[in-house]
Amino acid sequence: MYSKVVMDRFQNPRNAGGMHGANAIGQVGNAACGDIMKMYLKINDNGIIENARFKTFGCCAAIASTDIACDLIKGKSIEDALKVTNKDVIDKLGELPTHKLHCSLMAEDSIRAAIEDFYKRKEKESKQAIKKSKRNEE
Ligand code: FES
Repeated sequence: MYSKVVMDRFQNPRNAGGMHGANAIGQVGNAACGDIMKMYLKINDNGIIENARFKTFGCCAAIASTDIACDLIKGKSIEDALKVTNKDVIDKLGELPTHKLHCSLMAEDSIRAAIEDFYKRKEKESKQAIKKSKRNEE
């Protein structure tokens, strides 16, 4: 059985939906159950996560886990968000049945995937800026 918090977060997720202006989007999936999670982040110039939202095609535990994960990283620096684990998610949820632990792991992975995307975008921007400055020099 699920905890009250899991049921509440499943039925009334606080952070469900996409995000306009997200500058980090991470998607993870679990081949075994077929569930998919997408995490959207807005990270400011100081590396603080201003907002986090999600879309999850998955089970009750997956939806509740991602919703909690969003709360856990909002207002945090990237470095601190990377320290959030599925154990933190489970602590907030109260508990998860053993066969549903992978759902909370997907929430943790979706945070990392979104932050990885953020750095990829930054790298691309930097390369484009260098290219542009070289063109201007010619
Ligand atoms: Fe796969 Fe929950 S059963 S994420």
